[in-house]
Amino acid sequence: MRNLPVLLLLCVAVCSARPLEGAARDKDNSMDLVQHYLENYYNLAKDVEKFVRRKDSSPVVKKIQEMQNFLGLKVTGKLDSDTLEVMHKPRCGVPDVREFRTFPGMPKWRKTHLTYRIVNYTLDLPREAIDSAFEKALKVWEEVTPLTFSKIYEGEADIMISFAVGAHGDFFSFDGPGKSLAHAFPPGPGMNGDAHFDDDEHWTKDTSGINLFLAAAHELGHSLGLEHSKNPEALMFPVYNPLTNLARFRLSRDDVDGIQSLYGPPAASPNDPVVPTEPAPPETPAMCDPTLSFDAVSTLRGEILFFKDRYFWRKPLRTLEPGFYLISSFWPSLPSGVDAAYEDTTKDIVFIFKGNQFWAVRGSEIQAGYPRGIQTLGFPPTVRKIDAAVFDKEKRKTYFFVEDKYWRFDEKKRSMDLGFPRRIVEDFPGVGPKVDAVFESFGFFYFFSGSSQLQFDPNAKRVTHILKSNSWFNC
Ligand SMILES: *[C@@H]1O[C@H](CO)[C@@H](O)[C@H](O)[C@H]1NC(C)=O
Ligand SMILES: [Zn+2]
Ligand SMILES: [Zn+2]
Repeated sequence: MRNLPVLLLLCVAVCSARPLEGAARDKDNSMDLVQHYLENYYNLAKDVEKFVRRKDSSPVVKKIQEMQNFLGLKVTGKLDSDTLEVMHKPRCGVPDVREFRTFPGMPKWRKTHLTYRIVNYTLDLPREAIDSAFEKALKVWEEVTPLTFSKIYEGEADIMISFAVGAHGDFFSFDGPGKSLAHAFPPGPGMNGDAHFDDDEHWTKDTSGINLFLAAAHELGHSLGLEHSKNPEALMFPVYNPLTNLARFRLSRDDVDGIQSLYGPPAASPNDPVVPTEPAPPETPAMCDPTLSFDAVSTLRGEILFFKDRYFWRKPLRTLEPGFYLISSFWPSLPSGVDAAYEDTTKDIVFIFKGNQFWAVRGSEIQAGYPRGIQTLGFPPTVRKIDAAVFDKEKRKTYFFVEDKYWRFDEKKRSMDLGFPRRIVEDFPGVGPKVDAVFESFGFFYFFSGSSQLQFDPNAKRVTHILKSNSWFNC
């Protein structure tokens, strides 16, 4: 019964969706789309008047911000092009309004053996392909839990799978091609646990249409009790992501943590031979983890970027909560696990280093002619990577930290200053011997090493504060 409110809210939103007026202009269509999106997935209250005509749009702005935050977009509260683009993408029909990874009340199956039945089939694919997509999708969850599944061909299964178009008897009508692809209900009797797929989609084995296996694995996650995740790498992220490499598909750490919070890990049988298990999927860094360290830190147009593995946090100075993003979603050709980054504010360029290469980015654009070798900056071939870098606006010099030494680069002359490298301890007493990351803010240098951070006054040449690395986040 605890699930009812969510479903009812969704029902209100979906059931009362107005049909589009025949010859509505593009802009109107787009506003309808926005309104429906926020109503369906972010629980925007329905109002008699369309919000675009309302004077007071603050609830809408809040919902747009909520959506941008959930989906890892820049939180502007405005319908910028990135936001509209995501709203046009195909996605799951279950709303994103909650932050939990499980449904309210944490419904779960009280047994470990579950039955499923494929009630009917789409004509887009041969039956064997459909059977195998669902079998593979269930296997994804079976592998990380004690759950097992068996298929039945008649009668009521725990998980009833069907394909349908438009209205199909559950208040949650499908919407033609694109947009909402499928939905599923949390564990429980009756319709609960069931998964419905929009047969107006073009279902495919590959990613030329909507990949049935990926959508099925996601929906079955709901059938087992998982809600949407904010983690863009998670299978339970609400937006359909066709780019996933299907041959190497695996659940993200976040999905595994979510499902195991309900069912625990797979049961080991005492007769099992001891086989080395696959390495755990890489953990998503948590911003409030007291042991958090960074790969690189840089400013970018007044914000601070904290790089870690495949991700970065982006922290405007004025807001408390940083945004969390995949590096590849901003700069698709940049590698993960970068070594160093600094912003030359006079050129509006951020230089990003990994190994013996570096890239120049302006905003989200990688500049032509990159990556270049770090030797072009004047490093000897013995330097294979940079640990950290920071630009001093006043002197227009960049400091490069490499192990226990540092180099100074003259940005005006574009050449390395003579007399370097020098030892870090000589000119930055209290810092080092090794630095992970460094950036400049209000005349101070902030040095990061493991989970600690030093505020350093370059004029007084001394450490002025000792902080935790994640002190910039509101932990
Ligand atoms: C498949 O079954 C569902 C649920 O019983 C029903 O709503 C839908 O119309 C059926 N689809 C087809 C193509 O028969
Ligand atoms: Zn979903
Ligand atoms: Zn349905």
